[in-house]
Amino acid sequence: MDMDKSNKRFWERFAFLYTGFMKKNDTAYTELCGYIRKHLTHADSVLELACGTGQLTYRLAGEVNAWTATDFSPKMVEEAKKQGKEANIEFGVEDATALTYNDDSFDVVVIANALHIMPEPDKALSEICRVLKQGGLLIAPTFVYDGNYNKLLIWMMEKVGFRTFHNWKARELKDFVTSYGFTLVSGEIVKAKPLDECILIAHKK
Ligand SMILES: C[S@@+](CC[C@H](N)C(=O)[O-])C[C@H]1O[C@@H](n2cnc3c(N)ncnc32)[C@H](O)[C@@H]1O
Repeated sequence: MDMDKSNKRFWERFAFLYTGFMKKNDTAYTELCGYIRKHLTHADSVLELACGTGQLTYRLAGEVNAWTATDFSPKMVEEAKKQGKEANIEFGVEDATALTYNDDSFDVVVIANALHIMPEPDKALSEICRVLKQGGLLIAPTFVYDGNYNKLLIWMMEKVGFRTFHNWKARELKDFVTSYGFTLVSGEIVKAKPLDECILIAHKK
């Protein structure tokens, strides 16, 4: 897929600002990681896709055996590496829609706030299903369009090049994921900015 279609140039340009931009969601991220933590074990090998600058990475890697944090933007990965130090984190550049890992490689795949900004999230789900072990867990907290949200901030973000391809409500996100070979475990809602998050957790069948 060409770079512009997937909006990669925008994410590359925005990488150095992303950590500061997401500070407003510190409380929301801490709360959502509290939910996610309950589903992780110290034996888990985790693949994180679309890690940004490590918003979930550093909050959760200490809970598991090994955490591989990846993003398709090399600049995001560069920025993520600067944000902390955990012995069990390995970083890499990976496109979620065309992963380089073998089948059945991970116990858990985490993809936070990214399925909705991908033009072809179905390709990411099929890759996630492929690299997850049988019964493995998909953890996909995603901004959803339920309730009130900050339309002005979204409009301003779009003006500077941010694009969403799927304005899902929580129900639609759940239907989308379960139609690709996953069984829903939970889907709590957490207040965040500019949208609330559905902490979608599902098992590979
Ligand atoms: C809204 S940010 C989310 C970052 C972080 N996970 C968080 O929750 O704050 C979206 C991230 O998805 C990445 N991304 C977009 N499309 C991707 C793809 N096809 N493969 C891997 N990463 C992708 C972008 O580079 C960006 O870092």
